[in-house]
Amino acid sequence: MDKLRIRGGNRLQGTLQVAGAKNAALPIMAAALLTHDELQLENVPRLADTATMARLLSGMGVAVERDGQGQRIHLRAKDLASVEAPYQLVKTMRASILVLGPLLARQGEARVSLPGGCAIGSRPVDQHLKGLQALGADLHIDQGYIVARRSAGRRLRGAHIVTDLVTVTGTENLMMAATLAEGETVIENAAREPEVVDLAACLNRMGARVRGAGSDRIVIEGVERLHGASHRIISDRIESATFLVAVAATGGDVTLVSAAPETLDAVLDKLREAGADVQLGTDWVRVRMDRRPRAVSLRTAPYPGFPTDAQAQFLALNCIADGVARISENIFENRFMHVLELQRLGAQIDIEGHTAMVRGVEQLSGATVMATDLRASASLVIAGLIAQGDTTIERIYHLDRGYEAMEQRLNALGAQIDRVR
Ligand code: UD1
Repeated sequence: MDKLRIRGGNRLQGTLQVAGAKNAALPIMAAALLTHDELQLENVPRLADTATMARLLSGMGVAVERDGQGQRIHLRAKDLASVEAPYQLVKTMRASILVLGPLLARQGEARVSLPGGCAIGSRPVDQHLKGLQALGADLHIDQGYIVARRSAGRRLRGAHIVTDLVTVTGTENLMMAATLAEGETVIENAAREPEVVDLAACLNRMGARVRGAGSDRIVIEGVERLHGASHRIISDRIESATFLVAVAATGGDVTLVSAAPETLDAVLDKLREAGADVQLGTDWVRVRMDRRPRAVSLRTAPYPGFPTDAQAQFLALNCIADGVARISENIFENRFMHVLELQRLGAQIDIEGHTAMVRGVEQLSGATVMATDLRASASLVIAGLIAQGDTTIERIYHLDRGYEAMEQRLNALGAQIDRVR
């Protein structure tokens, strides 16, 4: 299993290109199931998760071709050979649940493994199921699989759905299913994340009629069929956040290009609060930091609030900040797995319920730590960059799920990271 060995203490300096958004690419790839025609996607990040989604789709009979440097992908779901998402793939990537809505709408049936437990809490899918039932699906669980059907010869039918809580992939699944339903669907309490907006834009290019994405009320007027389209995936705001926090924590001067600053408000506010100098253009962000960061408290919330996917990275920054920070995690239970590992580097953190109190210390010192999930891994990389001496991070397959060649890109900015096989 690969490890990363990081020699800490270097400032980061230079320019870095942000990749396409993983969390936009995954639902948009699943949307290829909604049409017989080809969906051509640009700016698809080359990650373990997008490869898993490609494998899942190709197992159903979707023709998948990558070209260019792998960031362009052609998907054609002409005839589907299977409507099953097997446990082996779903357990490595929960976002596999995103095939459920499209399969049901297009094929009238689906068999998707239940995701089961995961490192950051129980993460149920009841809201996906409740919404699909409202659209007329008949659902039951059989041997760990969600078995979904709509009545033979009939389309799903539009419905008024109010989700009990804000769910990103839940909103996406229901939006995709509703594109081919008969009549109008309204999703209230919808997630407002930029990735939901990007999916709606792609669906509309395919002939769907989706309005209101980006607000908490999405209206979908069902159509009989969708057609092929070409779409460019938006920039990854979480990847941007991760690199920006790394600069604020180590000190340095880095410009991110192909970024989407308009999706980063909550993160940029916190970087300024930490003492960073932030400048913006339409598609770039420059962050300069020449001092020890000030402690920054935060509470995670659905978009446009502070993203849970950037919580662990800010927690790492706070480990060496001046002052005490209070970090509240309000989206997922059990999302402080990185804390035990950060403590091994000398961080002073107390957890009470869903809040971590972080007392900044002058210096962390390198040690061997273990990655537990995707964003926790990113926080350990940041901690390794600021720690004195060498830090070895084990189990970095988690990191490869969501970041493209992270160590090479950080090394190009002046970091010293080796991948050890
Ligand atoms: C998506 C993102 C993930 C991000 C999360 C929150 C993708 C592929 N993943 O995950 O990176 O951390 O949004 O921004 O886009 N919940 C239920 N029942 C449901 C659905 C969700 O109780 O049916 C709960 C979850 O357990 C969690 C909260 O709702 O506590 C939010 O989860 P959700 O927005 O659905 O997260 P994901 O879509 O899985």
